[in-house]
Amino acid sequence: MKPEILIQYALEAMGRAYAPYSGYKVGAALLCADGAVYQGCNIENASYTPTICAERTAFAKAVSEGQRDFVAIAICGGKDGVIDGRFPPCGVCRQVMREFCNDEFIVYMAGRDGKFESRTLAQLLPDSFSL
Ligand code: THU
Repeated sequence: MKPEILIQYALEAMGRAYAPYSGYKVGAALLCADGAVYQGCNIENASYTPTICAERTAFAKAVSEGQRDFVAIAICGGKDGVIDGRFPPCGVCRQVMREFCNDEFIVYMAGRDGKFESRTLAQLLPDSFSL
């Protein structure tokens, strides 16, 4: 699947973000080896710490449906859903990616005007911890 298409799925998911506290709306689209795409958005909470990021929402949906083999994830986000630059995944989400993905897993970060940047998981999380 072309990165542009995966990013479109992430943008669609961003529209469903529940972010009344920070105002930052984030969307993710996780591509599986079988071609399936799982979308995720951030879901905030009045108690703050139960907040889940868009990326982990997508992983939770996919893994709980039996998926284990992942190719790439597209991420987009911004204040009030306005994308004014790329939205790199937080450290917790990188560690969750590490749990299920190899070094070659690709992270597409959407930018302005249809631009995007891509990184491998190895680039985003060097010297990572896993068991
Ligand atoms: N957020 C994500 O959804 N993904 C990330 O990788 C970083 C942060 C969300 C969590 C919170 O709802 C908002 O962005 C501001 O931190």
